[in-house]
Amino acid sequence: MTAPVSMPHVMPTYGRLPIALSHGQGCRVWDTDGREYLDGLGGIAVNTLGHNHPKLVPALQHQLTQIIHACNYYQSPLQEELAKLLVERSGLTNVFFCNSGLEANEAALKIARKYGHDKGIDLPEVVVYEKAFHGRSIATLSATGNPKVQEGFAPLVPGFVRVPLNDIAALKEVAATHPKVSAVFLEVIQGEGGINTAQNEYLQAVRQLCDEQGWLLMLDEVQCGMGRTGKWFAHQWAGIQPDVMPLAKGLGSGVPVGAVVCGPKAAFVLKPGNHGTTFGGNPLAMRAGIETIRIMEADGVMANAATVGAHLKAALVRELGSLPGVTDIRGNGLMLGIELDRSCGVILNRAMEAGLLLSVTADKVIRLVPPLILTEAEADQIVNILAPIVRQFLSEPAAA
Ligand SMILES: Cc1ncc(COP(=O)(O)O)c(C=O)c1O
Repeated sequence: MTAPVSMPHVMPTYGRLPIALSHGQGCRVWDTDGREYLDGLGGIAVNTLGHNHPKLVPALQHQLTQIIHACNYYQSPLQEELAKLLVERSGLTNVFFCNSGLEANEAALKIARKYGHDKGIDLPEVVVYEKAFHGRSIATLSATGNPKVQEGFAPLVPGFVRVPLNDIAALKEVAATHPKVSAVFLEVIQGEGGINTAQNEYLQAVRQLCDEQGWLLMLDEVQCGMGRTGKWFAHQWAGIQPDVMPLAKGLGSGVPVGAVVCGPKAAFVLKPGNHGTTFGGNPLAMRAGIETIRIMEADGVMANAATVGAHLKAALVRELGSLPGVTDIRGNGLMLGIELDRSCGVILNRAMEAGLLLSVTADKVIRLVPPLILTEAEADQIVNILAPIVRQFLSEPAAA
């Protein structure tokens, strides 16, 4: 193994692995020592089109020669173009652009608050979920349902009511007891929380309750959206529409870009002066989003995510599903989790040493969120590397 790369001048906010990635091609990346890895992580569900994509890179290069940043004082045909693409694919109506997932969620939370105030609610509340992850700003970490993320950052932002996922009775109880709620905010598939899926029937019931109560339905598709599950947006499997949908991660295939896509109830809640961003909607990010969607459609990338995802899941179930210690293999498309009955952070290191990048989330869940261009042969290779590692790990005495 290579010597740890030293980063004495960077704040130690991450426990980093001892490699540095220098370049990539498709679903493969190489470190600065020339070692090759299969990318089962995609920069945490970001590199939709893999690395050095032959259509994306020239489009970005061309954009660099035109204009990189132009600020929101001016009209932006590229913002309008990407907004139209997102609106057409979601059935919603208007988009606000920003730079990241937490920024998209901050904007969503501001919409929820303002929507409540506009209805005469003095201190509006937002329903959020156990095990949710919405980001690391003060408001989004307050919405997050993980005490580790919140530890040390009190006072948290007030105005959140927390419920368990897939428990419609709990949400109805909130409706009966919390008259100040203005919105319900959840991930269709919880990513950081361990690949926990909101069931279709649950989403349909939440939609109905939101309509009855006059609440906004806000679906955080930052991780599960942009084709990862085989539809543009994961909620589309349930046949419902949200009022507010934050996006980021895969939207720009690696170029930072976030968006809040809204339907008619939410699209005009924020008025001029209510919200803004210097970088949001910049031409380079917009070009990345536009080309990502165009290439995905031209090359059948979303269908690939569905078929290769199903192939990968079936192979994981075949190889690992019946092992004592494997409690579940779940997820949709190329957003998959293998849950073990014990903490398994070490699998991340062992997989890396064996040439596979992945992550372990929620302590016990091995997460695979590779580029959506993954081939079946590459999926098989992931399983061939990972299965022996998991078998070996589970055969060892559990750490005390
Ligand atoms: C569902 C979800 N929302 C929001 C975020 C925050 O996104 P960012 O890291 O771009 O701020 C993440 C990041 O993992 C996420 O998975």
